[in-house]
Amino acid sequence: MIRQIVDDVYQIGISVPGKEGHEAVRVYVILNDGHPILIDCGSHLYRPQFMQEMEEVLDGATPEYIFLTHSELPHAGNIKSVAEKWPGIKVIVSNVLLAYIEILPVLPLSQITAVIPGTQLEVNGRMLEFVDALLKDQPGSQWIYDSKTGTLFTGDGFGYFQDESLIDQFSDEIDGGIREDQFQAYHYHAFRFLRWVIPERLGADLDTMFSRRPVNVIAPIHGSAIRHDITTHKNRLKSALANVRSQYA
Ligand SMILES: [Fe+2]
Ligand SMILES: [Fe+2]
Repeated sequence: MIRQIVDDVYQIGISVPGKEGHEAVRVYVILNDGHPILIDCGSHLYRPQFMQEMEEVLDGATPEYIFLTHSELPHAGNIKSVAEKWPGIKVIVSNVLLAYIEILPVLPLSQITAVIPGTQLEVNGRMLEFVDALLKDQPGSQWIYDSKTGTLFTGDGFGYFQDESLIDQFSDEIDGGIREDQFQAYHYHAFRFLRWVIPERLGADLDTMFSRRPVNVIAPIHGSAIRHDITTHKNRLKSALANVRSQYA
């Protein structure tokens, strides 16, 4: 479902039913005054839906960039259709790109750029920053920060399972927002290494990351945008991560 989060930032995507609830798979679209940017490009499994929603939001505009949080198929698998529809699109990837993903065969290498965390890229006067993902399921996973709206796109981080009826709702439209146990269930499955993590250190790094830039919106790929009580939700995630470790123990 297409939903405007804030300003010119839109959330699209589908919901996949699972044992613990529905899991969203998102693409975020930043219209950027005629120079659109896609954050991830969707799963190959739901190509028609992703393409239809992207085209509807873009309303005839040609996207200039895809920024990939990482190269797993739910995030990058739809790139073939995107490349066929918009062959001039440039792709920004993290420093690890797995060869079996569809990127190499479908676009010239000259249109693919690998960046390292800390890189800032200006697109039509808008500054986007690549941030080292604090929760990685691939070594090169990156989060992306849009300075104009204060939106932090967090890839698999901050994901959560949701009831089907609420899957497209933003946090402020849900009584009590996103619960700690929703974050916990998702991160338990998505980040198996959390059993070996010292939660206090990870939590402190999350605090530092959020203190360095104003975050108004958290935009996970496997959830809907969190756009209120940011500190509360960050603290819920911190507790959830500590609980995951206890779960394994
Ligand atoms: Fe992932
Ligand atoms: Fe994912």
